[in-house]
Amino acid sequence: MAREFSPLKQQDTPVKVLFTGYLTTVAVGYLMALIQILFTHGMADGKFGLSIDDIVYSYYGNRSGTLLETKLNGSMKENASERERFVIMQWVRDGADQDEFAESGAEKIIQDRCVMCHSKGASIPDFTDFNVLKELTKEDEGATFGSLTRVSHIHLFGISFIFMFVGLIFSFSETSTIKYKSIAIGMPYVFLLVDILSWWLTKLHPMFAWLVVFAGAGMAVSFAFMWTVSVLEMWVFDKVFLDAEGQPRQQWSTIVEAKFKELGGEDAARRLGVIAKRSGLFLWEKWLTQGVPLLEAMYRKLSSKKE
Ligand code: HEC
Repeated sequence: MAREFSPLKQQDTPVKVLFTGYLTTVAVGYLMALIQILFTHGMADGKFGLSIDDIVYSYYGNRSGTLLETKLNGSMKENASERERFVIMQWVRDGADQDEFAESGAEKIIQDRCVMCHSKGASIPDFTDFNVLKELTKEDEGATFGSLTRVSHIHLFGISFIFMFVGLIFSFSETSTIKYKSIAIGMPYVFLLVDILSWWLTKLHPMFAWLVVFAGAGMAVSFAFMWTVSVLEMWVFDKVFLDAEGQPRQQWSTIVEAKFKELGGEDAARRLGVIAKRSGLFLWEKWLTQGVPLLEAMYRKLSSKKE
């Protein structure tokens, strides 16, 4: 069956530039979103990096403790010494009574270590008001109903729009068969719904935390696939042949192929593979030894600036 559309590679250069510009910007946005997740949910258990615990703490909460304790073991850990944190937690465990607030020594520690940020007019809870502090000593139930509904609707509207355009651009591609194209275009929407659903399920029970990871990964894979195919077809591929079933088959651009042969064919490919692997490993090591500590330092600086 002949298909009536202009494939990506046949679009005019201005259209290709428009598509590529959009795809590039959205990809950078995606990267920023991942970094943000690393810093908000990633720090929930007090350790840098994302884990299942982080997801459980963020949505289900730490039901064996209170938000005050969770934070003292998490993102507020650096603000007080081990002993001071212990005194506050002891006071919380003893019922967080107002009578014992001063007596236990918790009041002085809060005054000395926390009020500089947690004061009147700040966007974070004001600890000069005892009732505000008391509220945080109740059982930590993770994300609230209000915050989940807010984030859910923002994500549903926003992300469906992103995939609308990424999918639309990809729908003009020819690399995959119609079947796989339809799957790739539909998948992100399924994963998006599963992702949002998994937050609510995790709020009910921590065992659903793995579903958050699964849905997030699914969305990322379909995004990466559509992105790569679209960009490659616009700029790298050129001739398309039909196979026996009338489905288009992709060919490497004649230019790329000629260059490839000129370089010495497979031998060169193998050498390129080795070089790519080596530089990949090198970059990964640099990321671990320098990139991650740099991001951590930046995060610390930023969070102390919020005062
Ligand atoms: C350098 C400024 C700063 C200091 C000092 C500080 N905090 Fe915080 N605190 C923040 C910021 C910013 C947030 C919001 C981001 C977050 O939740 O990690 C926050 C959030 C919190 C929350 C969560 C509030 C909520 O409703 O989500 C608790 C609980 C908390 N801090 C406890 C403390 C305690 C206890 C201390 C003293 C040992 C303390 N903080 C010292 C800046 C500070």
